[in-house]
Amino acid sequence: MELTNIKADFPLLVNRKIAYLDSGATTQKPFPVINAINEFYKNYNANPHRGAYSLSMEATEIYENTRTKIAKFINAKHREEIIFSKNATESLNLIAYSYGLENLKKNDEIVISIMEHHSNLVPWQKVAKTTGAKLNYMYINDEFEISDEEIQNKITDKTKIVGITHVSNVLGTINNIDKIIKYAHKKGAIVIVDASQSIPHMKIDVQKLDADFLVFSGHKMLAPLGIGVLYGKKELLNNMTPFLMGGDMIEYVHEQTTTYAPLPNKFEAGTQNVEGVIGLGSAIDYIENIGYDKIHEIEAEIVGYAIEKLSKIDYLTLYLTPNREHHSSVISFNIKGVHPHDVASILDNYGVCVRSGNHCAQPLLRSMGIDSTCRASFYFYNTKEDVDKLLEALDKAYKIFEKYITNSAKKS
Ligand code: ALA
Repeated sequence: MELTNIKADFPLLVNRKIAYLDSGATTQKPFPVINAINEFYKNYNANPHRGAYSLSMEATEIYENTRTKIAKFINAKHREEIIFSKNATESLNLIAYSYGLENLKKNDEIVISIMEHHSNLVPWQKVAKTTGAKLNYMYINDEFEISDEEIQNKITDKTKIVGITHVSNVLGTINNIDKIIKYAHKKGAIVIVDASQSIPHMKIDVQKLDADFLVFSGHKMLAPLGIGVLYGKKELLNNMTPFLMGGDMIEYVHEQTTTYAPLPNKFEAGTQNVEGVIGLGSAIDYIENIGYDKIHEIEAEIVGYAIEKLSKIDYLTLYLTPNREHHSSVISFNIKGVHPHDVASILDNYGVCVRSGNHCAQPLLRSMGIDSTCRASFYFYNTKEDVDKLLEALDKAYKIFEKYITNSAKKS
């Protein structure tokens, strides 16, 4: 693939001329993804699995071929281990309800990290409350990482479920999920990996990882909003009851009883987001065309440049590990003494989009003694010019607020 002008493939970035630094929230979409969805509605739109006519069968084929493509993309052993959902949040809720509630009992332990997005935290509070299990946390050290000691202290013989984000959406820390999975398995626990912030940037191989469940959202990896994936080992999924009930997840329905369809339909009740599935298939083609090595190379250069420049600015506090090998493409920061929402709205005036707030990770921020940050999150379509725009806009913001910042806040 010719990579001279990647941005030209992204109509919104061409039309709006902004420095879009919020890909951790959702990525922009390239022409091939937009065109694939358009093509589906123009030529193939019908409800998969529902019709005996050829149009519906063609829609079924496209839908099911994408499942096979995703299975290959993450190296799942069986294509029926791929379940389509609305997003990572729905996938995690499915696991919590259909696995957690059914398999945990009083005094069992669930271990998650303090870095979890609320979507991999709140469902486990519900499971803990309902079953009497305990919810324990692996905390971060001064370098914004989970140490090996912390993993070994928190995952015990009582642990039945470990939930871990591969990459923190606030800190960009890449967790050592290899180690966590191996250690959890040694203790007899299953491991759920939230790959939402990692799969857009790095290759995932579920068999090599030996992850029991792995979830991600399509919209953070160039695909449309509203499509997500749940990967689960076949033997686990086979033993779980459905999360949602309705059309297409059944085998036989009687007045009082129902038998369920085999995988994957058992977990796909109701008409599915077919355009989302098709967009996700096209997004995977796009990513594979560029290649993860190239994506890594581009991001390492842009993010490295941003870190180098930002870390020299006295009025900023950065929240990231000093170990570049353990850091992805998210940079959280604050102008000392200024609320991040104020900073983000000034940056917006200069065409720079960053997220501000608690990033759906309140317990993490509370554990760090803060309640919010600004977050710049990068993808391979960003450039050094985007970073320069951020730096200039930050200087402008600082100049506006400087006179209001107290001396003690400046030093903190
Ligand atoms: N989970 C998304 C983020 O971190 C929305 O921004």
